[in-house]
Amino acid sequence: MNTGKIGVFDSGVGGLSVLREIHRLLPDIPTLYFADQKHVPYGPRPHTEIYGFVRQVTDFFIANGAEVIVLACHAASAAALYPLREDYPHIPFVGIEPAVKPAAIATKSRVIGVLTTQATADGELYRKVLTQFAKDVRVITQVAPRLVELVEAGTFHTETGKAVIADYLNPLIDAGVDQLVLACTHFPFLADELAEISDGKMTLVDPGLAVAKQVKRVLPMQFVPADESHAYFTSGDVKAFQLALQRLIGVSASAQTPSIF
Ligand code: DGL
Repeated sequence: MNTGKIGVFDSGVGGLSVLREIHRLLPDIPTLYFADQKHVPYGPRPHTEIYGFVRQVTDFFIANGAEVIVLACHAASAAALYPLREDYPHIPFVGIEPAVKPAAIATKSRVIGVLTTQATADGELYRKVLTQFAKDVRVITQVAPRLVELVEAGTFHTETGKAVIADYLNPLIDAGVDQLVLACTHFPFLADELAEISDGKMTLVDPGLAVAKQVKRVLPMQFVPADESHAYFTSGDVKAFQLALQRLIGVSASAQTPSIF
């Protein structure tokens, strides 16, 4: 019998912003979360290299009973979503694309900002949503790799952290952006700082809930949830990851590094 078990993946702790929405929407379904912190950040890496990492995690998830796999990472989706669907045709993959569509619908200033990383900005998924949904609006793409570092290190509340965020945000504020697409799953954790720096003038577009709804749609038609709790894995430092779990989504759980990583 199917268990509906979901594997959720990111380069680091960013995907926890998607995982918390999946837990809210599907509280009875066990999840596996994998943070590839040995290789974070993915943003500056070539797509082929990212694809290699994602395949390894996909094999790990499948070996551990995942029936649906969520790429809770824009960079991993940009690099791997299409090839994964070809290479593993029996597994439903849920990817994540920059949420340009809702931003383009909601903007009043007709200027939207997309805060992202290089691997996502270079991807086919981004080109596709721009062509489809952003014909009548101006889009400013801001590649912000240091924001990934801030969230990984947990230093975004500090004065130095806020100054880094402001450096990326000020040109968007000056350009009249009123909708800010968070096209990296690390960035929803910066919501308070982004709201403070932009003085509430930008609506933050976080795709986490939309991804969770898509996960619900692709779950097997019939399943009996496995009688298991959620499990957490990292290819990096286990203690640091456990702290981040607590700090970012209020989960106290132990994590492990599987021996193959
Ligand atoms: N959370 C990843 C994303 O959504 C972070 C990218 C990175 O590792 O650079 O793209």
